[in-house]
Amino acid sequence: MSSISGISLLRERARKAADLVERHDFIRVYTHHDADGISAGAIIAKALLRAGKSFQISFLKGLNESFDYEKGELLLFADMGSGYADLMSEVDTDLVILDHHIPNGEIQPKRNLAHVNPHLVGMDGTYELSASGVSYFFATELGRNRDLASMAVVGMLGDKQKIIGGNAEIVREGIEAGVIEEKKGVALHSGKLRDALLKSLEPYLDFYGREEELKEFLRKARLDGDRDVDNLDDDEIRRLADAVVLRLLQMKTYTGVFEQIVGKRLILKNMLVKNSVMLTDVVNSCGRAGVMSIALSLLLGDVDSLNKAIKINDDYTIQVLEELKRRRDEVREGFCIRYLVMEDGLSASPIATTLSRYIMADKPLIVVNIKNEYAKVSARTNEDLARRVDLAEVMKVAAEKVGGRGGGHRVAAGANISAEKVDEFLKEVDRLCCAMLA
Ligand code: C5P
Repeated sequence: MSSISGISLLRERARKAADLVERHDFIRVYTHHDADGISAGAIIAKALLRAGKSFQISFLKGLNESFDYEKGELLLFADMGSGYADLMSEVDTDLVILDHHIPNGEIQPKRNLAHVNPHLVGMDGTYELSASGVSYFFATELGRNRDLASMAVVGMLGDKQKIIGGNAEIVREGIEAGVIEEKKGVALHSGKLRDALLKSLEPYLDFYGREEELKEFLRKARLDGDRDVDNLDDDEIRRLADAVVLRLLQMKTYTGVFEQIVGKRLILKNMLVKNSVMLTDVVNSCGRAGVMSIALSLLLGDVDSLNKAIKINDDYTIQVLEELKRRRDEVREGFCIRYLVMEDGLSASPIATTLSRYIMADKPLIVVNIKNEYAKVSARTNEDLARRVDLAEVMKVAAEKVGGRGGGHRVAAGANISAEKVDEFLKEVDRLCCAMLA
């Protein structure tokens, strides 16, 4: 199906969701605690405010956490729900799901249901539309909300999506609405070039703790580290892009990331942080630090939250860079996977994402973080390997085998299992990945 017809089918489903919202005064919203979920929450909040609705937003790590509602109110899930048809079928009130995870089973609703998900209309939810994008289409059905396109960009970038299909349409509408501008550039934070390169996680350039290499990098590219990233001229941008690509090639980074790093960058003109890469990281860090409300306030334009959010991002970035430095040598080789088992680690997800994209891109990487009797698993691979390996399926099957739950996307999936089952789980994951890669 072409993305045009996919988008119009998605809009029809979003229209149904907007109709359901219009029939209720109070909407109870649950969304995911990551950048995509938080920006979906911000879009929904703004759209509901403008529509004169009362609502409450809560953040969940996933549907393994409990949620509640009162009969008669409208329950809305963003960035979750599609993968849990069994749980959704038990909901005894009107239900809206704005998600992009692969649906797992058919929901048998007890009341009215509007289920908006790109996978249900022949679109790809891994690369061309995230939950914040789905929420944007919902918001534009509910009212005149095209200015919220800039918030949707945060979710696209946060989920490492591409500006294609549904995402490209949102960016196009955002440009038309005057809230997004495309500029040439490299995906780096605002501020001094030297700092931005040193602390960058996306792209991860592996300069942290290697300041001499960074000095040499700048010297060879004839770049001044004191220059502001946002003010580089075309010539500087070109030299920087060439040098970044060369460095990543030397690191054996997955080459598919290059198009996301060099070329265009998106300026979000109606956001407090206009650099889209930086805003995405700031929102993501707040989510990781468990202060989702600060990120939500920032997206909604609250000036007081700006400095707090930036400070949280600075602290979090250093923690991740330190953890990466410490854990890198603890990664073990399986037959067809690499794996890292941490006890009380910072968080499995950023470690898995960064290592699998930038340092160890040739095999799926499974990172396990054990806390007390529970283990949280993050599995990552790249698009090339994901043509053969489906990590969502691997996580689901292997987790269920050991009494846990798993799922997600082909390239980025996760599981929750009990700590004592980690070895058995990893063996099964390796076996499944070998079978898919064979
Ligand atoms: O937590 P992490 O970022 O590694 O999760 C990757 C993906 O896997 C997310 O989309 C998340 O919703 C999904 N996931 C899941 N079931 C779990 C754990 C994670 O579907 N038990």
